[in-house]
Amino acid sequence: MTKTKTLPLKVRPDFVWGGSTSAYQIEGAAAEDGRGPSIWDLHSRTKGRTANGDTGDVACDHYHRYPEDVALMKRLGIDAYRFSVSWPRVLPRGRGAINDKGLDFYDRLIDTVLEADITPWLCLYHWDLPQRLHELGGWTNRDVAGWFADYSTLVVRRFGDRIKHFATFNEPNVCTLFGYAMNWCAPAAEDRAAYFPACHHVNLAHGAAVDVIRHWVPDASVGCVYNLQPIHPADENSAADRRAAEILDAHWNRVYADPHILGHYPAHVAADYEPYVQAGDMARICRRLDWVGMNHYGPIWAKDDPNSQLGFAWADVKVAEAHPEIGWEIFPEAFTDQLMETHQRYGLPIYITENGCGRDDDKEFADAAGRVDDFYRISYLKLYTAAMTTAIEQGADIRGYFIWSLFDNFEWGSGYGNRFGIIRVDFPTGRRTPKASFDWYAETIRQNRG
Ligand code: NOJ
Repeated sequence: MTKTKTLPLKVRPDFVWGGSTSAYQIEGAAAEDGRGPSIWDLHSRTKGRTANGDTGDVACDHYHRYPEDVALMKRLGIDAYRFSVSWPRVLPRGRGAINDKGLDFYDRLIDTVLEADITPWLCLYHWDLPQRLHELGGWTNRDVAGWFADYSTLVVRRFGDRIKHFATFNEPNVCTLFGYAMNWCAPAAEDRAAYFPACHHVNLAHGAAVDVIRHWVPDASVGCVYNLQPIHPADENSAADRRAAEILDAHWNRVYADPHILGHYPAHVAADYEPYVQAGDMARICRRLDWVGMNHYGPIWAKDDPNSQLGFAWADVKVAEAHPEIGWEIFPEAFTDQLMETHQRYGLPIYITENGCGRDDDKEFADAAGRVDDFYRISYLKLYTAAMTTAIEQGADIRGYFIWSLFDNFEWGSGYGNRFGIIRVDFPTGRRTPKASFDWYAETIRQNRG
């Protein structure tokens, strides 16, 4: 068994150690207690969209097993738990009729988390747009900002007595770029004419939600969770690749955070958004935030692709060792660089809202008792937490680290084959078994608490 010994890291005394999940990836109970369908229900049930045709219908069955899950979080010793609310569980058609049973579930969950002495962090949107709203144009319809504000009002009023940490969106870049321009995620479009308005309307929805949260919960701490990774040209000597990397960098790293925090679109792509920006929009989008949430896994290599919607494609370049199945590079220096860049660009406190290691580890590493000796995950986490410490030493104001993820879960297009959990989930039975990395993380938290 891998040793769990860990070195003390130099973090603040009030540093937040946490874990992240999202509704569609863990809850299951897709058709239970009045939940409506989301775009991901339809997407995952469409042939060929996910590995093995996997869906989130049952997932970790967290909807029923949340008491056991929260007990494991308590045993782990985390300070905070970031989860998302499923919009169609509380508003099955996205707007209009409220589903009380859906709200009741989150009441029970939040109360259980608080009883475990863990601070709940609530994310309003982790990609599960109600299908009914998609039929009305989804993120391409400017009205969606108002629908999102109404949904946010419902959630914030209901839970704001107990929730003081809110994120508006999780990775708005991924759900728009992959969902509207690259046909990798729901709603599976590949159309620049849909993509640009979708981004802008997500931004309007973000601004509206910040106002809703500030209005109903004046003592709330509010942020947005961005997926930020350094982007490099596949071929440094190719002007076309360098240009592709610049454009991808704008769309991946800046099209949300820049308008939210700096009040403008990145200059080199701003013209594409102009047709959708109405008078007063940028002020509606740029609302005061308390922190930046940063999800990070590894760098991205871009190449020119004139046949794509936006002029770039992912390049299969590897300069570092990569996870065997998913191919993401293990490149902790890129993490330090990105933390410094985020610190310098936005000047806000940073919470690392996701970082972790995905592998199909069940196949090779689970023993008969279901215990997974995930030494590779521990070594990844050691490298990345050390890289975080380097950024702290260099002056970045980093306030917390949330591991992705607490549980093996539905990893979108990769289905259940790509496991990020520090707790193994045996999907046929739902049985949970902490992995070796669970012990490592528990010990890291224990040794690095202020
Ligand atoms: C980012 C997303 O927020 C989360 O849903 C996903 O599972 C992880 N990264 C790993 O890909």
